Amino acid sequence: MFVSTDSDPQGTRRDFLYVATAATGAVAGGAAVWPLINQMNPSADVQALSSIEVDISGIELGTQLTVKYLGKPVFIRRRTEDEIKAARDLDLSELRDGDSRNANIAGDASDANRAMDESGEWLVMIGVCTHLGCVPLGDAGDFDGWFCPCHGSHYDTSGRIRKGPAPTNLPIPLTSFIDDTTIKLG
Ligand code: FES
Repeated sequence: MFVSTDSDPQGTRRDFLYVATAATGAVAGGAAVWPLINQMNPSADVQALSSIEVDISGIELGTQLTVKYLGKPVFIRRRTEDEIKAARDLDLSELRDGDSRNANIAGDASDANRAMDESGEWLVMIGVCTHLGCVPLGDAGDFDGWFCPCHGSHYDTSGRIRKGPAPTNLPIPLTSFIDDTTIKLG
């Protein structure tokens, strides 16, 4: 299980709490077998096998769970109405990167094309800055989304790059709901 290395003490504590409360048993067999399979010989077959299921029942509004998936942190955020509104009220012409960067939905970078569900409550992204690969901090930055302290990239509440050197929006991996409280990555 990945534990965020956020230097913000609040964010770290919050992430840790959710790792502790929500992640017990959250990463099922897929994650457990991944390192073993990976050592043997990574291939397209392995990629196909490498899906994990995550229990999201413990994630409260306005917080996120960070899990490790295919060696990278993945942010699973349950957004507040204010966060969704801020993401959806934006004029898309203000965006640097107009692409959804979503493995599930091709199209423009509107929030509807990035959120996992219609209401916009769930946002799942690979938590790796698109500049040089640091892990951005949550609840931070000029747009109250994510902030990468390495060189100062600011992402909004939809994970779209808004300021700083990062060229593209935070990417969204293949995701789907198994049921109301479980999502599958991959
Ligand atoms: S790695 Fe994030 S701003 Fe450079």
